[in-house]
Amino acid sequence: MPATPALDGLPAAAPAEPFGLRIDAPSGDDRLTGLPVPALREAVRAHRLVLLRGFHAPDEPEELARWCRTWGEVMTWPFGDVLELREAEEPTDHIFDSSSVPLHWDGMYKPLIPELQVFHCVRAPGGSDGGRTVFCDTVSLLEHCPPEVLALWRRVTVTYRIRSVVHYGGRASSPLIVPHPRSGVPTLRFNEPPPQDEPDFLNRPAHAFDGVGDEDVPALLAGLRDTLHDPRFLLAHTWHSGDVLIADNYALLHGRERFTSRAPRHLRRVHLLGDPAFANPAVA
Ligand SMILES: [Fe+2]
Repeated sequence: MPATPALDGLPAAAPAEPFGLRIDAPSGDDRLTGLPVPALREAVRAHRLVLLRGFHAPDEPEELARWCRTWGEVMTWPFGDVLELREAEEPTDHIFDSSSVPLHWDGMYKPLIPELQVFHCVRAPGGSDGGRTVFCDTVSLLEHCPPEVLALWRRVTVTYRIRSVVHYGGRASSPLIVPHPRSGVPTLRFNEPPPQDEPDFLNRPAHAFDGVGDEDVPALLAGLRDTLHDPRFLLAHTWHSGDVLIADNYALLHGRERFTSRAPRHLRRVHLLGDPAFANPAVA
């Protein structure tokens, strides 16, 4: 990776592929909490994703939440500020299973949409266990989209329904293309249908499409699938224990590849609200 100059007090950073920025701890005793938050925030906003590797991260969820509050307002969920993402003994929703998680944006069923996601990998699965988190840069995707495809997608609104069995659910209705709440650039909002080859997928969402005929929905879905998984726009992140990754939830979609059941995959996630907080137009 070619190094880039330090960004406003951050250690040397290098571009990630196909997007994002990676910052490695310069020594073995650098602490996450020693990094300048304003510079980190600007780096995330500019690059849409920043990976911090090798820094000492907080051991306890409360400490992680405390650091996140130095960024701004944390979005609190029924479970608190920190989501413990690991496979449940008896999952009722795909989030807490070892299945894949289709691409989506966080907060899609909630009154507020968080601007940023902060992930801390407490324990990474083994190298052959799967479980990568995938991020799609929808701003770049739309910049490269053929005009006729863009014209079709601009006409389409998707309504999603899912049972509320864990911490989210209900109904959300969003155009495929909406402006980024901060910058105004076009972004794509889509929750992919679960893959057909996972019949055991827990808590499937239902989709309804407006702006496209029923007979044209399969071609629309195939086009979305091919584009969203185009390697020019999709970053598949292999977790290392201790990784901290911060992502722009307004610009990106994210999901998970399936992993070996009972593999030791443990992530923590905190949501940071925008300033001002962004009211979710999909549930208005
Ligand atoms: Fe998510």
